[in-house]
Parts: sequence; structure tokens; C-alpha cells
Amino acid sequence: MLENNKQVILEAINLTKKYDDGVVALDNLNFQICNNEIFAMLGGNGAGKTTTINIFLNLLEPTSGDAKVCGVSSHIEPLTVKQNLAYVSENVMLYPNFTALQNLDFFTQLGGRLDVSKDEYREVLMRVGLAEQVHNKKLKSFSKGMRQKCGIAIAILKDTKAILFDEPTSGLDPKAGYEFIRLLNDLKDEGKAVLMSTHDIFRAKEAADTIAIMNEGKFLMKEKASTLFDKDLESLYMQYMAVHGLKPTTEGV
Ligand SMILES: Nc1ncnc2c1ncn2[C@@H]1O[C@H](COP(=O)(O)OP(=O)(O)OP(=O)(O)O)[C@@H](O)[C@H]1O
Ligand SMILES: [Mg+2]
Repeated sequence: MLENNKQVILEAINLTKKYDDGVVALDNLNFQICNNEIFAMLGGNGAGKTTTINIFLNLLEPTSGDAKVCGVSSHIEPLTVKQNLAYVSENVMLYPNFTALQNLDFFTQLGGRLDVSKDEYREVLMRVGLAEQVHNKKLKSFSKGMRQKCGIAIAILKDTKAILFDEPTSGLDPKAGYEFIRLLNDLKDEGKAVLMSTHDIFRAKEAADTIAIMNEGKFLMKEKASTLFDKDLESLYMQYMAVHGLKPTTEGV
């Protein structure tokens, strides 16, 4: 039973993906993410985190099951689904010869929003932590973290119900990582449903409402962060991995 103002935005229903070479990347995965919620997927390399995200984006088709956005299946109505999704990858790909403002303008218009003013672009860039003096600099001079901030600005401007992040804090310095989590919390307070994959146990615990530990396309654990409050998530992660005979991959801990 959902609370009054809660609505399921992202939903995986028995989501299964078997690649052509026989690798089962997702094995009957189930989860729901509502508005005002952050869901973090932890797990070693090859656990299936990116595959999950790519199916929501319809970059991949599920073998069976469904990835739904606002009740619509990503592989059945991809265009409708894309209108409700913004996505920030680990390596944000933008135009290196465009400035930050030009990239924002280009991708925002491409996303269908033609009404955004220059002031709004500047405001969003400031909000993600890009100071005014770099707004007119070309992306090729930006660090990885700065490019990622630009990607997040584009995602914010798309103004969607859900945002997907694939390893958003990977490669960010501690200050940028901290600022990212604050921004994520603001987006959540504004009503977004957020699905993120990460290797950063510390940040996952700080940011997420629900944390899942994934292995071979299944969740070994899926818990509300509030129930983990006084538990050491890193030890819990190690325990799950050990029970399943796995060598954990972590960063930022
Ligand atoms: N295009 C592909 N063809 C075949 N197998 C693939 C393909 N992409 C991913 N896989 C396999 O599917 C499984 C899940 O991979 P996925 O990229 O989803 O993992 P991940 O959790 O994102 O890992 P990482 O933490 O390294 O990013 C792995 O076994 C991987 O080798
Ligand atoms: Mg991945």
C-alpha cells in the first residue's frame, strides 16, 4: 500500500536479460521506485547494474519481464518512456568543441524544451557547481567531474519524473562527491525518482532510501536505508559477498 502522495515511477517486474552469448545478466529482478525516492544498486563488476539501467533506457531489450516508467514498458513504448527519463552516465559524452552553455542549449532543445532562457541555463550550471567563469569555456578543457556536472545540468533541465545515474560519483573528488549527494537530495525533495548504480558504499548509505546489493542479476539484499541506520553497510556488503563466495569490488570506502 502506497502513502497518499506516492506513485510508482520506476518498476522492474521479473526483469530478465540473457545476452546472445548465454550470459544471464538479470535474473527475475523486481523493484519499485516512487517519487521522492533514491534507490542505489551496489554490486561487483558484472553484477548487472548497467544492464538494468540500459533496459530502462531501451538501449537493450529484456529477454523477459518488464522495465516500466510511469506504468509504461520501456521496450513497448520507448518514446513515451524517454520523455519521463533523464540519464547521466559515468562518462558523460558531450560536444568537446561546444561551451558548457552551448552544450546545455543543444541537448535541452534536442530533449524538446525550446523555452529555456540563457538565465535559466546559467542558474542550473551554478546549481550543479559550475562557476560563471567556465560557462563559456569549451568542454574539451573540462575535467571529468566538470563534464559530469554539465551532464547533470542537462538532466535537470529535461525536467523528468525519473533520473538514472550509472556510477555518478566514480572519479569525482571528495568535495564534488559531497556536493553531488546534496544535489541528489534536492532532486529527491523536488519529487524525482532516482535509480543509481554505484561502487561507493559510503555515498550510497548517505544518499539512498533503499539500498540493494546485486550479484549475477539478482538482489542478495534490498533494504530501506533507515533499517540499516546503525549497521555498518561495508561489513554487511562483505558478509553478503563472502556468503556467496564472491570477491567484492568497492571504491570510496
Ligand atoms: N553486450 C554484452 N554482451 C554480452 N554480455 C554482456 C554485455 N554487456 C554486459 N554483459 C555481461 O552481463 C553481465 C552484467 O554486466 P553489467 O555491465 O550490467 O554489470 P555492472 O554491474 O554494470 O558492472 P560494473 O560494476 O563493472 O559496471 C556481465 O557478466 C557482463 O559481462
Ligand atoms: Mg556498469
